[in-house]
Amino acid sequence: MKNTYYITTAIDYSNAPPHLGHAYEKITSDIFARHYRLRGKDVYFLTGVDEHGSKNEKAAKEKGVTPQQHCDEIAVKYQETWAKLNISYDQFIRTSDDKHKEIVQKIFTQLENQGDVYKKKYEGLYCTGCEAFYLEKDLEEGKCPIHKKAVETVTEENYFFKITKYKDQIKEHIIKNPDFIQPDSRRNEVLNLLEDFEDISVSRETVKWGIKVPNDENQVIYVWLDALNNYITALGYLTDDDSLYKKYWSADAQIVGKDIMRFHGIIWPSILLALNIELPKTIFAHGFITVGGSKISKTTGNVISPDDLIEKYQADGLRYFIARELNYGNDGDFAAEFNEDKTFKKCEILENRVNADLANNLGNSLNRIIASILDKNCEGIVPERNLETEGDFSEFVESVKTKVLESFDNFDIQSSVIAVWDLVNKLNKYIDTEAPWNLAKKAQEDPSTKPYFHGVLYTCLESLRLISILTSPYIPTIAGKIWDQLGINEKLEDQKWDKITWGLTKSGTQTHKGEVVYPRVDSKLADKTKKK
Ligand code: ME8
Ligand code: MG
Repeated sequence: MKNTYYITTAIDYSNAPPHLGHAYEKITSDIFARHYRLRGKDVYFLTGVDEHGSKNEKAAKEKGVTPQQHCDEIAVKYQETWAKLNISYDQFIRTSDDKHKEIVQKIFTQLENQGDVYKKKYEGLYCTGCEAFYLEKDLEEGKCPIHKKAVETVTEENYFFKITKYKDQIKEHIIKNPDFIQPDSRRNEVLNLLEDFEDISVSRETVKWGIKVPNDENQVIYVWLDALNNYITALGYLTDDDSLYKKYWSADAQIVGKDIMRFHGIIWPSILLALNIELPKTIFAHGFITVGGSKISKTTGNVISPDDLIEKYQADGLRYFIARELNYGNDGDFAAEFNEDKTFKKCEILENRVNADLANNLGNSLNRIIASILDKNCEGIVPERNLETEGDFSEFVESVKTKVLESFDNFDIQSSVIAVWDLVNKLNKYIDTEAPWNLAKKAQEDPSTKPYFHGVLYTCLESLRLISILTSPYIPTIAGKIWDQLGINEKLEDQKWDKITWGLTKSGTQTHKGEVVYPRVDSKLADKTKKK
């Protein structure tokens, strides 16, 4: 069985810095990447920015800088935010990279030489927001159904891509491979769209900022034909150095938002079929994060910066909320409150969630065991295991693993995180019921009860070890802090799936009590301190 796992995200338009919607996609993709690394897969995780096209050209013009200067600035902003969020990508592709441009031109030439790209005069209705032409019938009151803005009539002599040649093959592939386009609602949408899909224009005369059509100075390659190819240009497809391509293609999971499934479900497979290369295993479309019920978008102008959220809730607070509260294939709301100057104030559901699950359930278990009891009674050293104290923990961990695997097979991040927290909650209850602080007293009075007391501590520490590994895809920083406190003489990132087996903690290990892993967030308190 192949042991590689290639995961890609959409590459974001460089017209503005990242917003919460972009962070949502990158965080969830990162959770997949980390999960599959934990499973021992050789993961390659690609993300990046989509720098060409009229949208980015306009943004640069408004700022009074060249498109390249503008894109250079924005690319840095994306990378900084993704670094803060611990997005563990292997490559950040920029479509203005020379390598990408050269390969896209080679692909264009190949498609033209084999007759899949041809020249034709064209008049169409264009939405700059979507960077796409619309048919009259698909508009809502003459406006783009997504951006609710008037479309422009554009007349050009363009190159066209013969999608109609591949439609039947794509349809057949979708029907034969239920995993190809997910979730089901998106598969049906793509099948419907395919019915009357026509050849598309793949070059633009009026746009200057883009990859030049080979041997035709007047045209640039359509931004989607440019951008979609990033998934293979990043791997060095059609270059001398194509070892990544050979190793990782085809993609195992291509994560995109629901608005761009039509490009990924029709145009992208047409390109791949035309190039005679394998189609990806799955293209998965997540829903939108809305703010107060409406879609966040740079074009609409209701944007929350992930940086503000990271500052207030830490990367792990936002990561956890996204994993736990939002159902991946569907839309989900981020019920934010704003200050008078429209800056972000707070999100109460997020605060309640992270306080309950991270600060209380997880953080307190760790503190109660390591700082309060183990340190005071056992000099911080992991005591002897005692099977009598373990109940069904071992079987329980196996059932958590099964649920996590099933959830990831279904792209269901929320169910996976709930399964992991079942173990966190079980540990909490165990601590409450066994009350190790009482057992400590009792052991002093009656030394014969010491092995039981020690066994209870071992059970707690072993649970914490497993919790650290199991939570690491979602909250890598907190998981790392727990791991450090446990004092295990191996790296957390080296722990693979087989280490999620009950009973591997070694007695005698020196733990290190440490700082609180996730301090409670209290906006009311923070507001008061600010006023003082
Ligand atoms: O579409 N909630 O770029 P983009 C969730 N450059 N996801 C959202 C979102 C929201 N509110 N807003 C945007 C593009 N997204 C192209 C992609 S890929 C070859 C080219 C998602 O900056 C959106 O669905 O408009 C997409 O997957 C990604 O963010 C980039 O959006
Ligand atoms: Mg968009």
